[in-house]
Amino acid sequence: MTGTSPNAITAKAYAKINLSLDVLRRREDGFHDLTSVMQTVSLADTIHFWFGDERADHGEDYSLIDRAIESVSALTRNAKPIAYSIQKRIPSAAGLGGGSSDCATAIRATERLMALNLSDEQRLEIASELGSDVPFFLTGGTALVEGRGERVTALRDAPERAFLLLNGGMPVSTGDVFSKLEPSAYSDGAASRRVLDAFRRDDLVFGHNALTAAAMQTCDSLGCLLERVSLLLGPTRVALSGSGGTVVGLFDSVADALPVKTELEKDVPFVHLAVSVPRSVSGGQWEPG
Ligand code: C5P
Repeated sequence: MTGTSPNAITAKAYAKINLSLDVLRRREDGFHDLTSVMQTVSLADTIHFWFGDERADHGEDYSLIDRAIESVSALTRNAKPIAYSIQKRIPSAAGLGGGSSDCATAIRATERLMALNLSDEQRLEIASELGSDVPFFLTGGTALVEGRGERVTALRDAPERAFLLLNGGMPVSTGDVFSKLEPSAYSDGAASRRVLDAFRRDDLVFGHNALTAAAMQTCDSLGCLLERVSLLLGPTRVALSGSGGTVVGLFDSVADALPVKTELEKDVPFVHLAVSVPRSVSGGQWEPG
């Protein structure tokens, strides 16, 4: 960051996938304690922020960005209105954290435009209030996420892999999926430990996603898509991201994934071939103007 703050910023807000997702328990406050290994990937929205009071109608989806701007602005007496435009590429309500990533990007962009120097604690407090997945995006890269989502431990970047992101086009509500979750899906964090063990061998594997059965109940077409990709790749190379409905196929390289991408593009509504995005990139692609 330079001494003078810019008048406008363009930033990329990357999507995430869950390499594992353990649900440990339901809490008194209705949320669930989780353990999840998350990874930022190369699918991204692009958001342009500038000083201005144009209130473009971004629809309900983007209220998290407005709330992020408001929350950070409330910390200074010299706040000026910030406007933004967004090029949306991450499907909404898809388990890829698009809205949360946009929100974390808006926290950082507002801080930068207003030349504030928030502490990590201040940023984290704002992020956790706005959504369980938002804190992860302040860190990005490969990270272990615990608690409701607010405890984020940065990990060494995972080995790079290609991920085929597949979505049948039906939005899935995270709240609905958690409400259908049976206690039999709870675990002690074994799926995430499996992923962490693989990292120690410099390998990347999928652990189980505890939300899979509940997501399949919420979204009729999801079971078919999961089964189809499992048959093509083998069950250990397929996982649901977050609460769904994005199904992720794991490949050693982009070249390995291309034939499967071509095949599935024929009839799956959203197909995107992504690669891992390291923390150095996910946390720092800020262009002035
Ligand atoms: O925090 P966020 O708004 O993303 O959560 C959406 C819904 O998902 C919550 O209202 C809650 O029902 C559920 N949830 C949960 N436990 C979490 C995260 C989300 O039960 N750790």
